[in-house]
Order: sequence, then C-alpha cells, then structure tokens
Amino acid sequence: MRRTATTTEPPQQTTNRKGTILVIDDEEIMREILETLLTRDGYEVRVAANAAQGLELARNVPFDAVIVDMMMPGMDGISTLDELKKVDDDMPVMMITAFASVENAIAAMKRGAYDYITKPFKNDEVLVVLRNALAQRRLVAENRALRQNLQARSNRFGEIIGRSSRMRQVFDLIIQAAPSRTTMLINGESGTGKELVARSLHQNSTRADRAFVTVNSGNLPPDLLESNLFGHVKGAFTGAVYPKKGLFELADKGTIFFDEIGNIPLETQAKLLRVIQEREFMRLGGVETIKVDVRIIAATNVDLRRMMDEGKFREDLYYRLHVITVQLPALRERRDDVPLLVQHFLEKYGEENNKKTLEITPDALDLLMDYEWPGNVRELENVIERAVVLSTGPRIDVDLVPDHVRSSKRFQMPQFIVPPEGISFREVITDFEKRLIESTLEAAGGVQKRAAELLHIKPTTLNEMIKRHDIRPRRKRGMVPGSDRAEAAEVADLDDGPADQIGPTSFSNS
Ligand SMILES: Nc1ncnc2c1ncn2[C@@H]1O[C@H](COP(=O)(O)OP(=O)(O)OP(=O)(O)O)[C@@H](O)[C@H]1O
Ligand SMILES: [Mg+2]
Repeated sequence: MRRTATTTEPPQQTTNRKGTILVIDDEEIMREILETLLTRDGYEVRVAANAAQGLELARNVPFDAVIVDMMMPGMDGISTLDELKKVDDDMPVMMITAFASVENAIAAMKRGAYDYITKPFKNDEVLVVLRNALAQRRLVAENRALRQNLQARSNRFGEIIGRSSRMRQVFDLIIQAAPSRTTMLINGESGTGKELVARSLHQNSTRADRAFVTVNSGNLPPDLLESNLFGHVKGAFTGAVYPKKGLFELADKGTIFFDEIGNIPLETQAKLLRVIQEREFMRLGGVETIKVDVRIIAATNVDLRRMMDEGKFREDLYYRLHVITVQLPALRERRDDVPLLVQHFLEKYGEENNKKTLEITPDALDLLMDYEWPGNVRELENVIERAVVLSTGPRIDVDLVPDHVRSSKRFQMPQFIVPPEGISFREVITDFEKRLIESTLEAAGGVQKRAAELLHIKPTTLNEMIKRHDIRPRRKRGMVPGSDRAEAAEVADLDDGPADQIGPTSFSNS
C-alpha cells in the first residue's frame, strides 16, 4: 500500500477524512450493524450503549455527526438530543425510530434533530442522510468562518488607525462597551478621533443596522436645539406649522451622538438628564410622553469637571455621562503611530489623486514624528493631503512639509524651583528673557529677522532686546531650513560686527 509507505502522513488520514460518527443505541445488534456499515463506507465510528456514555464521548471527542436511538432505557433519544445540542449546537443529530413512533421523531426534528431514519432501514438510506448532514455541517462551518473573516477584515474599528498601547486600550474598551446600552463619554483634544470612536461603538453593537444620529449642538439657541432634539407638535411656536420628529425619535433603537456635549446650554441639560434616566421625553408643546430606546454617546474636548465646578455643567448630568469614559490620547502622546497614520493617509489621498505609489522620505517622516500636532490626527491628515496634492515626483520630501511643522522643535519650559529664601522676580525674568533670545538666535542661525519671526515679535523689538541684554552673536551656524542665501550672508555679517551694530538695516535686504 502506497499510503503506509508515506510516513509523513498521519496514519488516521484515510479513515478520518469522511468524518467521525458517534452511534448511541442500547441494542447491541443495531450498534454492530451501523458500525460495520459506516466503517465500510469510510467513516470512523465510536459507539455508546446509552445516553450517559454517548454524552461523555461527545464532550471529549469532536464528532461530525451523531446517530441516536429514540427509545432507550434511562435517558431517551429526545433528552439526549437536547444534551448533545448543548455540547455543540451545530452538530447534526439523526434519530433512529421504530416506524410506529414517527411522530416522536418529527418532534425531535422540531427540537433541532437533522433528520430521522425509520427501522428497519436500508443501508443506502442511512448513508445518504449522513452524507447530506455532513455536507450541511461543512457549509455551516464555512459560512461561519467566512463571516468571521469578513468581520475581521472589514476591521471592527473602521478607519481608526493605531497600534500604540494607548490605542489598543481604546480598542479593548470599544469591544467591551459596545454591546451594552451604557452611556459613554468620549474625551479628547480636537481631532483625536472622537467621532470615529463613537461610530465604531455603534458599528460594533447590535444597533449597527439602525440609525446613528449626530447632534451638533454648536451655538444653537436652547429653543431651537430642543426642538431639534425632541421635536415639536403643530403650533408649538410661531412657524411650527407641521409637527416634527426630533433627533431622539429618529435615533430610536439606534445611537445618538452628542458632539461636544459641553456646548449644551444649562436649561437643555436638565431635559437631557431626564432622557438619560427615563428614556422618555415630550415633544415641544406636546403632552404625550414618548419612549425611546437609544444609546447615548457624548464627546467633549473640554474639561467637563471644570465646567461643573464653574456652574456651567450640571453635576447630575456629568455623573450620568461619566459611566464609561474613553480617553483618547493626543497624537503627541502616541508618536509611534505617526508612521502608520502617514501610510494610511498616503494611501487614501494617493488613491483620490491618482498618485498611488507615493512614498515619504525618512527625513520628512522625522519632521512629522517630532512635531507637536496641536490639531492631532486631523492636522496630520491635512498635512499629508496637501503634500500629496502638491507632489510632483514619486516621493514626499521635507520641502512638502509645511513650514510651521518643519521649524518646530519641541519647546520645553524649564522647571522653576523657588529656594526657601525666595528669589528676585525681576532677575529671573530678565535672565529667562536673555536665554530665550540666545536660544532663538541660535535656532535661527543668527538671522535676526528669522529669530523675530520665531518669537512672534517685531524685528525692531528683538533688536532692542539684544542691545539691552548685550547679547553677542555666537559662532556661525549652518543654514536653517527655509533660509536663503541673503540670510546666510547676513549671518556672516553678524559674526563679525559688534552687537551694537546689529541694526534693522542689516536685515533690510532679506
Ligand atoms: N485614529 C485615527 N485613524 C485614522 N483617522 C483618524 C484617527 N483619528 C482621527 N482621524 C481622522 O481625523 C479627522 C478628525 O477625526 P474626528 O472628527 O473623529 O475627531 P474629533 O475628536 O471628533 O475632533 P473634534 O473635537 O474637532 O470634533 C477625521 O478625518 C478622522 O477620519
Ligand atoms: Mg468631532
């Protein structure tokens, strides 16, 4: 036999390929008949003389199908079926029944049996039923795998990019919190992806196929906001010619998302609280209570607790919202995600602009990694979109990185330690001012005009300060990015001249 010669193959391969079948029957003769029949047809067969034995086996061996006798002493076929379904709900179970009790077999099918066979049976009949059962099981398994795969690939987090540990915590929280109706608060600076997270919570919930309604409270006056939220009845106010459904009703069975909850005026906050607590409200001008089943998600980039302390945000509402909070990290707190995001946006805008193979140079990426990103992911997205649109070659280099991103090395305030005996405020400030100017001149390669730009002051002001602090030019530095030849020439001038000659005239030509 060729097969036995191939030692690398598992020995069970031939018999196992068709499937493993469990036969539970109290009659020995039936067990023998079925075992012989199925083995001859290529199945692997295990037999059990009663339900208890059979279930024990089923819990320990993965079977592809089970054949169960309806009439057994002790636990009968139907109860055995119930137990088998608990072990594996997809397991095809075939019942064997005497012709006289077909009705019982039909009852078994209603409870999830795959089919039944009446005694005495023809061998072919058993084999055909079994083959169909296994085919169906495979289909079910394949479908499930396909579904799971699809889900994994369609990315449960939509477009949320991030592999940093901070983002992984966010993903974990989304997965844990998404299925429930619990109110969620999403906290984070502007552009950190709060809306993306809100959508993802919705998409990963059982409400996914219902509405996701966004409330942009913006600067709406309370009346208008409330009529938006709760709707109004006909004649509720001048101009209310028709009754109108509010956003809460539109979001029924779905999710309602309050973008920037901090903007909701105090008087509306009270009404919102009631909806959160009771899941009911009235339309403006109405008398009828409307019940809704909505999940409430709120986002904010302000410190609600502080607003609460200042009396601008209701304490009870704050605590109602604060059940589960997702804290989104600022981009500068997860710099290791920058390359991934850059890649993502390169693909996105490359596609849009028909520049599909664009790459970013390491130098340009370094600049992006170093930047503080006050506008977070949104700002990064804009920077990449701009670079893609403006690019002419196959690579995005530093020249396509905006000036303000390029020139930003991180500024760090020194730590001040005040000694017990105290310190002269004037002296500290003077010293600090001098050092700041020196560092800025250094960063500007000695070019005063550039240094003044960096400090957001007028060149004349800087020049006065340079004189006042008696700052002498240092050794010549290399050219700074963005400086041109004229400025480089100016550096040379500065190096030679004494401080009091550094006047506005020395940068008039640059
Ligand atoms: N993790 C991320 N992965 C991919 N894109 C992101 C991510 N975070 C944010 N973005 C993108 O950045 C932009 C801003 O995101 P979003 O609107 O969700 O931020 P936000 O926190 O709601 O901002 P704001 O406070 O200004 O409303 C969107 O274009 C979004 O697609
Ligand atoms: Mg937003």
